[in-house]
Amino acid sequence: MRVPGDKSMSHRAVLLAAMSNGTCVIRGFLPSQDCQHTVGAMRQLGIPIEQPEETTLIVHGQRGNFTPPEIHIDCGNSGTLMRLLCGIVAAQPFETTLIGDASLSSRPMRRVIEPLTKMGATIRATGSSGTAPLTIHGTALSPVQYELPIASAQVKSAILFASLRTPGKTTVIEPIATRDHTEQMMSYFLVRFQREKVGNGYSISMYGDQVPESRDFTVPGDISSAAFWLVAAAAQEDSDLLVRDVGLNGTRTGILSILLRMGASVREVIEDYDQVEPRGEIRIQGGRLRGTVIEGSEIANVIDEIPILAVAGALAQGKTVIRDAKELRFKETDRLTAVATNLTAMGVEVVEREDGLEIYGGAPLMGAALKSYGDHRIAMAFAIAGLFADRETIIEDADCIATSYPGFDEQLQRFLTPDENPPTHVINPADIFERN
Ligand code: S3P
Repeated sequence: MRVPGDKSMSHRAVLLAAMSNGTCVIRGFLPSQDCQHTVGAMRQLGIPIEQPEETTLIVHGQRGNFTPPEIHIDCGNSGTLMRLLCGIVAAQPFETTLIGDASLSSRPMRRVIEPLTKMGATIRATGSSGTAPLTIHGTALSPVQYELPIASAQVKSAILFASLRTPGKTTVIEPIATRDHTEQMMSYFLVRFQREKVGNGYSISMYGDQVPESRDFTVPGDISSAAFWLVAAAAQEDSDLLVRDVGLNGTRTGILSILLRMGASVREVIEDYDQVEPRGEIRIQGGRLRGTVIEGSEIANVIDEIPILAVAGALAQGKTVIRDAKELRFKETDRLTAVATNLTAMGVEVVEREDGLEIYGGAPLMGAALKSYGDHRIAMAFAIAGLFADRETIIEDADCIATSYPGFDEQLQRFLTPDENPPTHVINPADIFERN
């Protein structure tokens, strides 16, 4: 199968193209609600964008010069958009107000307000506790050196976007490596910066006042969307699944190592680095899974896959432990509580800890009526759990899946229908990188 375009890359491709010096064609764009909000935001800031097909955008970059929006910008459910946009508009000479839905309006924003305020922006959070709506009074910023107190690609990216327009040297230090799509895509758009390994993370320094060079970009499939099918296949003995044209950036492929550890057979083949971001295919064959421990610096790599990995833990023999994952409490919903509640409703023994979960797997799952909590990844993770359960599983409020995965339900149907014409494509053994 193939999965829709990567969400993180779709957001970033639109933002960088908008800041570039010319016309960029983005193919494979994820036409989900979250990413469409990014297109809407850029249009409100004066960037002409055509969308001749759902997955194709033509973005006319304006060299980092935006026009003041007439009204507030609605970021919908998207934390990535709100935080990255803070970095962009903080360096613009006008005021912008960002709003979001109820979930986004309760998510922490101090994490971006603090570094951008150090750079000279004035940001007012008018929500109840340092939360959105945010009014950003942009200005000419000053460079800073900033060490992230939490592992967050969104905060790192907000600072990097702000520094693009800031003369002088800005340095951001991340103690734990997080997804590096901003850095990869900035390289592809010929932005110059230095990146050095520091402990488990990186230090990234950029001399600002740069205009990205306009380029065309094709977004590969989203490994976080593939994750649902990868787990379904891994937990099913004798299954054999090939996912084509998926992003294989090493800051996102932790799920493959984890499923291998749990007993699946996993192979990945990187077919192309031409646009900097590695892409290729994943083949997975299922088996009897066993529990594992997911902790430490591995968490940032699988931050969006924890709900479906918890489902994998419930389907595996023995205990699965997830720790150092407190950040999950600040996602679209509190994902630790949501996962623990839903697994418990399905008859799984789960202990919820402050920073993680202990899951005692191997018992049969029971179908149940479950809530999505308005969170797309909870809805999809439990749709997969439902495949393995006795009797019916109902997931309420599943519309939220549209924030990241349009077409999930059709693909779920297809996944359940055995392929009458399996692909004849054969992986060249010389190209295979077998995880061990
Ligand atoms: C994202 C970063 C992660 C992730 C989110 C997308 C990004 O959030 O959970 O879905 O595109 O930068 P944090 O960086 O806040 O951990």
